[in-house]
Order: sequence, then C-alpha cells, then structure tokens
Amino acid sequence: MKYSTMTHPTQTYALELEGIEVAADAIKAGKLVAFPTETVYGLGADATNDIAVAKIFDAKGRPHFNPLIVHLPDLESATDIARFDKHAENLSHEFWPGALTLVLPRIAGSALSLLVSAGLPTVAIRIPAHEGARMFLRAAGCPIAAPSANRSGHISPTTAQHVSEAFGDEVATILDGGPCRIGVESTVLDLSGGDPMLLRPGGVPIEELEQVLGRTLPTADATDNRPRGPGMAGPHYRPSIPLHLDATTHRPGEALLGFGPTEAATLNLSETGDLREAAANLFAHLHALDRGSFSAITAMPIPDHGLGRAINDRLRRAAMPHE
Ligand code: TXA
Ligand code: MG
Repeated sequence: MKYSTMTHPTQTYALELEGIEVAADAIKAGKLVAFPTETVYGLGADATNDIAVAKIFDAKGRPHFNPLIVHLPDLESATDIARFDKHAENLSHEFWPGALTLVLPRIAGSALSLLVSAGLPTVAIRIPAHEGARMFLRAAGCPIAAPSANRSGHISPTTAQHVSEAFGDEVATILDGGPCRIGVESTVLDLSGGDPMLLRPGGVPIEELEQVLGRTLPTADATDNRPRGPGMAGPHYRPSIPLHLDATTHRPGEALLGFGPTEAATLNLSETGDLREAAANLFAHLHALDRGSFSAITAMPIPDHGLGRAINDRLRRAAMPHE
C-alpha cells in the first residue's frame, strides 16, 4: 500500500512486499532509504557505494564523518566483511539478531566503502531483530550503512513520521513499520582491539553482555588510552606521512591532494568541485597517497560548507602531528 505523495516527493510505503521492492530498487540505484529497526529508524544506503554513503552524511548534516553501522540480514553475510574472534562468535550467537552492534576488524579488500568506516580498519556490524528490516536487507542484496535517521544533533526517530519531518524530500523512500519496539539505539561494543570495550550503552543491557563475556566491561571514556570510538574527540584515520592543509603550492616529492579544476593534483577529490564526490573519494585518496612514496601530502583548500565541513574536520584531524 502506497501512502499519498501529493504534497511530498518522498514516497512512504508500508513495510510490505511492494514497499520493500521499491526500497530495494532505490538502494540499488544509490538512493537513500529510511527503514525501521527494533531500536530506531535508520537512514540507509548501499555500503559498497561511496557516493551513496556520502549522501547519508550530506542529508544528516554531520559536521564530521562518524563511521557508520553496517546492517546485514544474517551472520553468514557478516563473515565476508569482518573478522570474528571468539568473543565475537559468542556474542553474535547470543545476541544476534538484536540490538547489539559489534566493531570488528574489516577484512581487507572487502567491497565496503572506506567512508563507511571513516578510514578506520574496523567496521561496525549489526543484524537487526526486526523481521521487516531483515526482509528489506535481504531484498537489497547488499550491506546497508545506516545511522539513525535524524539530522545531526537531533534525537533519534522512532516513527516514520519523525523521519519525514526531519528530511523532507532528501530521502527517496521511507518504509513505515510503525513505532520502534525498543526506541533507543543499539549497544555498541568494540571487539577490534582484543579486550572488549563498551563504546555506547543501548538496547542490550551491559549486564547481559558481561554475563556472556564473564567479565566487567570497560567503557571507552574510562580508558581513553586506546584509540577507538571516533566521536568528536576520538581517534581517526591519520596517514603515516605529514599532511599539510589549505595549500596552494607543493614541494617536489610531496603529493598534492587536489580539489576543483587543476592540472597539478596527484589525485583529485573532485575535478568539478563537487563536495559529495570529494567526500566519497576522501579516505580512498588519503590511503592511496599514504601508500605512495611521497614525503608528505599537501591538500588544497576545500570550501567549508555542506559536506566540505565534514571533509575539513577529517583533514584537520588527519593533519594532527603524531606524538
Ligand atoms: O540502533 C542503532 O544502532 C541505529 C540503527 C539504525 O541501527 N543506528 C545508529 O547509528 O544509532 P549511528 O550512526 O547513529 O551510531 C553509530 C555509532 C556511533 O557512535 C559511531 O561512532 C559508532 O557507532 N561506530 C560505528 N562504526 C564504528 C567503528 N568502526 N569504530 C568505532 N565506533 C563506530
Ligand atoms: Mg545517531
């Protein structure tokens, strides 16, 4: 059943076969789809499509690139993109599908966009318990990156109406599955660095995790010596060579990370000056230049609006000197 779209270009569908088909096609076409999970509504895009992932950050108005959770319909599809150690195996068997997100090492060479992980070697994975959500994920046939479907700095949406109020026509399709059962986001647990660490309390109680792990869980801010949780102050991707910002010239031996029309760039984030394209290329280009034999990376200035703010935020952090 399709709802009225007379006043609104976004199409809202009940979470039934027809809507799921339309939404899956939108995902395959690189568009944004909002969908319900048992925690909150997510703003989803094909996690293997850099430009589609960049659209998420654009629509949310995030001033920085936070890594995104990758949603999958089942455990089998997760083992293609992340490495599961014993803790991860135990916890996934116990709590998946459900409101637990696990941060795990990415499998190198997976099809996932680097932007999904904000350049980090890890990936956050969740298999929602919501039946309709998993039907949609299966129909889409690709991993789906999805933050909560709210604008940056606003509260998370627990109804389809919250989503349409927040995004207007920036979302191609909204799947309406009614109010979310849990209503708070998933618990995020980092298993990428050996000892489990809690990054965000959420839908699965910490006590239940501790029971399965047989130990108490440290939280990220209590033990800040470990580089992880890439929130505002957290760690982030940093190249191994110095990065200079807002450059107009570069010295011999240095790589020039270009933006806009220029002949001089070693790699160009976007020759046409398109910020979405630049966001999509940012981490891949930084990684590529870091792997080259350059003495430093020199980045041309990026306009500080829209996605440019997030790009500049990441570039500034990537340029911080190594201690
Ligand atoms: O319930 C939920 O988790 C919802 C639904 C839609 O699944 N999603 C959600 O996503 O809340 P978001 O983007 O609003 O929050 C994801 C959290 C952020 O705090 C982010 O920093 C963290 O997970 N995160 C994601 N990937 C990470 C990674 N590779 N390393 C560390 N933290 C990560
Ligand atoms: Mg959120």
